[in-house]
Amino acid sequence: MSVHNEVKKVTTNTLLRMKAAGEKIAMLTAYDFSFARVFDAAGIDVILVGDSASNVMAGHETTLPITLDQMIYHASSVIRGVNKSLVVVDLPFGTYQGNSKEALSSAIRVMKESGGHALKLEGGEEIVESVKRIISAGVPVMGHLGLTPQSIYKFGTYAVRAKEEAEAEKLKRDAILLQEAGCFAVVLEKIPAQLAKEVSESLTIPTIGIGAGPHCDGQVLVMHDMLGINNEFQPRFLRKYANLHEQITNAVQQYVKDVRRKDFPNEKEQY
Ligand code: KIV
Repeated sequence: MSVHNEVKKVTTNTLLRMKAAGEKIAMLTAYDFSFARVFDAAGIDVILVGDSASNVMAGHETTLPITLDQMIYHASSVIRGVNKSLVVVDLPFGTYQGNSKEALSSAIRVMKESGGHALKLEGGEEIVESVKRIISAGVPVMGHLGLTPQSIYKFGTYAVRAKEEAEAEKLKRDAILLQEAGCFAVVLEKIPAQLAKEVSESLTIPTIGIGAGPHCDGQVLVMHDMLGINNEFQPRFLRKYANLHEQITNAVQQYVKDVRRKDFPNEKEQY
């Protein structure tokens, strides 16, 4: 007989129930074991292994360069730190847009090699066949509409999306299509709060907003932004919960000083 500690894991059904009960969903990105372990223990519902790793971990200007192998590396590190949270992994640019067969083989690689629990794909109508094919293989999919960073060169700017009627109407149609295709949730990034409210009310699956106002069923932030590690990025939607850039700088400066003045290590800090 094996003895397991009963941990009530967050599943895609948990998120659906949370929406139905009017409970907000808290999601954060993470890219490695140590942060994932802290976030999981702190009670985060969903950890997103975002392709924003391309920006905040690798220093690229966009999310486009990150590869499937690199996403698998980040996701498998996160998974090893998680006990309870649902872990959603971004399929990176160029691994699902070609056709649904390619999308399915990318999805299978991530699920098999990382141990992630679900995938996120950017786009609506254009990728819905891929979404259906992945879901039909038993893999839960989260959608992502609005400012979809993998399309940055089409948009030309990171400004708010869907302010115009035609784009807003398409976004509403896409949200319904993704729900009908079987997605368990959809991220709404940088769109007007009123549009996010309408979309959230029109869906039975939860919406998770980033720069999409308070009416979404949950919120997501990039960990480096909300922890103030990255202090150059100051969009209006961002609330900083810490200033780690300053704290880390102070700690490192103090360490440098202590080493130079031969204060570290002291008598107690040696064998
Ligand atoms: O990659 C990412 O971090 C994301 C979030 C911004 C939603 O997709």
